[in-house]
Amino acid sequence: MTENNEYAVECEGLGRVYRSRSLLGQSRETVALQDLNLQIPKGTVFGVLGPNGAGKTTTIRILSTLLSATTGTARVLGYDVVKEGREVRKNIGIILGGDRGFYGRLTGKENLRYFAALNHIKPRDTDRIIDDSLAQAGLADQQKTLVEQYSRGMKQRLHVARGLLTDPGVVFMDEPTLGLDPLGAQELRQRIPALVGQGKTVLLTTHYMFEADSLCSRIAIINKGKLVALGTPAEIKRNFSSIGVIELTLNQTRPSLQEELTGLDGVKRATTSADGVYQKLTVHVVAGADLSDKIAEVVGKDHIENMVARDPTLEEAYLEIID
Ligand SMILES: Nc1ncnc2c1ncn2[C@@H]1O[C@H](COP(=O)(O)OP(=O)(O)OP(=O)(O)O)[C@@H](O)[C@H]1O
Ligand SMILES: [Mg+2]
Repeated sequence: MTENNEYAVECEGLGRVYRSRSLLGQSRETVALQDLNLQIPKGTVFGVLGPNGAGKTTTIRILSTLLSATTGTARVLGYDVVKEGREVRKNIGIILGGDRGFYGRLTGKENLRYFAALNHIKPRDTDRIIDDSLAQAGLADQQKTLVEQYSRGMKQRLHVARGLLTDPGVVFMDEPTLGLDPLGAQELRQRIPALVGQGKTVLLTTHYMFEADSLCSRIAIINKGKLVALGTPAEIKRNFSSIGVIELTLNQTRPSLQEELTGLDGVKRATTSADGVYQKLTVHVVAGADLSDKIAEVVGKDHIENMVARDPTLEEAYLEIID
């Protein structure tokens, strides 16, 4: 173990190739992750974003010792995930979500009891810890219901309770708000800064850009197994997307408008959406390009109610980065 380590998670050259065999016997290789280098400071929320299949879950599975890497090394709280897997497991919580991972014929509370025993939680502390976890996860009323009768969101809540049961120093959350109702999602989002306030480190994957923007101090975007952007949300918006956004409110639009605008030099994308009785037109332009006059001319000045230039949102930046 490295002493005085300021990082909760470090990985160097991390890679994973999945080898599988098709029904016809042909072997197939999928490069899920390639040469990932990351350093996540203790006591922060770190977001990992990327399209379906980008390698986010693979990364979490490697860091939490559930899967071995094909190349590279990783440390969690200074412990090597391969050589010191036991120490790593003692210090982490994993919230993978989904339908699997529980005994359907046991109640929510019985499931947590089982995981408490597995994690060597002292018997005299078990009931208090479990009751606390169930209450915090909003499952107090369903604790005596068999898990096979849980809805998807209730199972997700139970995953959260299970992941935090051992009061871990590092928490891996793989799309933790997926399937939660708006209140449940909001409650969980509010718990994350509180966990960090207790000194924990959270690694979070999500497809909800506003969630990443509001919770994460730093973000990595991976695409096809490769790191393509790394920084604070502001840095990702400013430095990596290389776009500016011009937003117009129109009183009239025409079907050919998007095509006309993307035909302009420096315009990367144009989208329209309804905005009350008006139409909203959002145009992504090459960063620094002053295209307001040209856009206004193409749209037709009489049709424009309002026009503003602004920085991209994280979602807009993301769309450009992974394009
Ligand atoms: N057990 C497996 N066997 C073969 N290929 C796999 C396996 N698990 C994942 N993959 C492949 O590895 C790549 C990365 O998958 P991963 O699950 O890490 O993506 P992800 O970023 O978590 O995507 P999502 O947003 O859909 O959850 C994908 O191409 C996927 O098909
Ligand atoms: Mg995934």
